[in-house]
Amino acid sequence: MATISATKRSSRLPGFYRLSLAERVAVVARWASLDKAEQKTLMEQGLTAAHAGQMIENGLGTFALPLGVAVNFLINDRDYLIPMAVEEPSVVAAVSHAAKLVRAGGGFHTEATAPVMIGQVQVLDVHNLAAAAGAILQNKAALMAAADDCSTSIVRRGGGSRDVQVRAFDQSPVGPMLVVHLLYDTRDAMGANAINTAVEAIAPMIEELSGGRVNLRILSNLTDRRLATARCTIPVAALEHREMDGAVVARQVAEANAFAVVDPYRAATHNKGIMNGIDAVCVATGNDWRAIGAGAHAYAARDGQYRALTDWHVDENGDLFGEITLPLAVGIVGGATRVHPTAQVVMKILDVGSATELAQVMAAVGLAQNLAAIKALATTGIQHGHMRMHARQVALAAGARAEQVDEISAQLIADKNIRVAYARELLMQT
Ligand code: MEV
Repeated sequence: MATISATKRSSRLPGFYRLSLAERVAVVARWASLDKAEQKTLMEQGLTAAHAGQMIENGLGTFALPLGVAVNFLINDRDYLIPMAVEEPSVVAAVSHAAKLVRAGGGFHTEATAPVMIGQVQVLDVHNLAAAAGAILQNKAALMAAADDCSTSIVRRGGGSRDVQVRAFDQSPVGPMLVVHLLYDTRDAMGANAINTAVEAIAPMIEELSGGRVNLRILSNLTDRRLATARCTIPVAALEHREMDGAVVARQVAEANAFAVVDPYRAATHNKGIMNGIDAVCVATGNDWRAIGAGAHAYAARDGQYRALTDWHVDENGDLFGEITLPLAVGIVGGATRVHPTAQVVMKILDVGSATELAQVMAAVGLAQNLAAIKALATTGIQHGHMRMHARQVALAAGARAEQVDEISAQLIADKNIRVAYARELLMQT
């Protein structure tokens, strides 16, 4: 078995998956300087039922998910171990494999916009939409100042109002409508509370300025001012797959992407694969994965047709270039990130310094997860990799010890008989 040295902070950990659970935790603990209590939080249920009962109404207990760590990630020349909470067996293995391919091309290069959220105020019963819009825009500075008065802490950290915009809808099922957008930088917070408080605070001023009646005051999950981008280039030689030439794999990955660019039926599945990775990091870090999903899918339909969030194409050197851009309104302070004990340990492992850095890591994870899926689909088919993980689970269910799982699962696959009873038979023979 490969020896693993965590003294150098490289996320390239060959053989990590073959270690026992306790050994894996020990490696990650050394990597992230986790103390005994933090290790215990990882291995045992971090969130107690009593704690959970304080977090939501009518709490009964907790619902645990597997927490794993994806390896091989090199992002902007920095190594990351990426904690992921997910029940689907192949997700962590697949994303780690893709990150290794990307590493061969120098890793991911990422960027993010400032963490600007949009708060919406719906205004009805407006007699003259243009005049009302004009009055609101003339008083932008006062509206922004009123919004900033709500959260001195975010403003102190350099966040707060950035702009006020007005959108007029001449027609709607209930007549003409004005929609006011407050653009608000929430810094390291996801910012739902801050932005909702701010739009509630400025709503009376908007009513006065517009002469209309305010109905909803709420953030938009289409956070298209808060985008993260990840790019990578995979050398064609690294894509060689069994008897398949790397150039053929690259071309077929690009073809798979094109399928999701033109066809919403395929795009939904393609983007679901991206969210397999992003959601798993959201859950592990205590972020709101429903918000992230809503934003991602709405953004994927921004030109009127739902499409792939990614671009994969063969570049001028014959290498495979990949890119993703999507809204990622995630925070590193507040919410479940602060109160969930496991999320706190996860944040220590991830070791990101800002919400925008976390968003960039997630964009890289989404791109890698997508590559893993479409490369598998465009070569051996998805069932091959899934079968391997399924066979491992069957071997475990039959009672295989960690060091037996590889051999037994390989035999199950070779014999095309992936059943617990057969795994037990094989175990008896060893
Ligand atoms: C399965 O969870 C995700 C995939 O269907 C994604 C894809 O088809 O691109 C494999």
